[in-house]
Amino acid sequence: MIIAIGSDHAGFELKEIVKNALVEDGYEVIDCGTNSTASCDYPVYARAVANKVVSGEARFGVICCGTGEGIMMAANKVKGIRCGIAYEDEVTSLIRQHNDANMISFGARFMKTEDVLRRVKIFLTTEFEGGRHENRKNLIENA
Ligand code: RB5
Repeated sequence: MIIAIGSDHAGFELKEIVKNALVEDGYEVIDCGTNSTASCDYPVYARAVANKVVSGEARFGVICCGTGEGIMMAANKVKGIRCGIAYEDEVTSLIRQHNDANMISFGARFMKTEDVLRRVKIFLTTEFEGGRHENRKNLIENA
């Protein structure tokens, strides 16, 4: 499975850790940057990852900024993206099961690395339930 990953400067170190963990687990990773802790604009990297996901080059996207908020907002502006902030383990399962989230966002300045790594695994291994959630998902897409 191919995963696209990206961050701004605040999320850079966390992105590198997540990237290495994904590679270790056998995923192929497309790193959309940024490539250092030099100040940069998170919407650029949100869009780069989102475009990989909507084009089908990557199955899922993982993004990080300081709070997880700005980069998530930018990703959700790309049609076809459903990105949630994984602030809790059960929520991480639910955004796959109920919302069919195809991107996940983390706040490097507010989350523990061990929590992030665990939630990435939860996200990538949880299936969308479909059923009553399918129409709601379609309503998001057609908003
Ligand atoms: C960068 O300082 C910070 O604003 C950014 O990483 C993010 O938290 C925005 O939502």
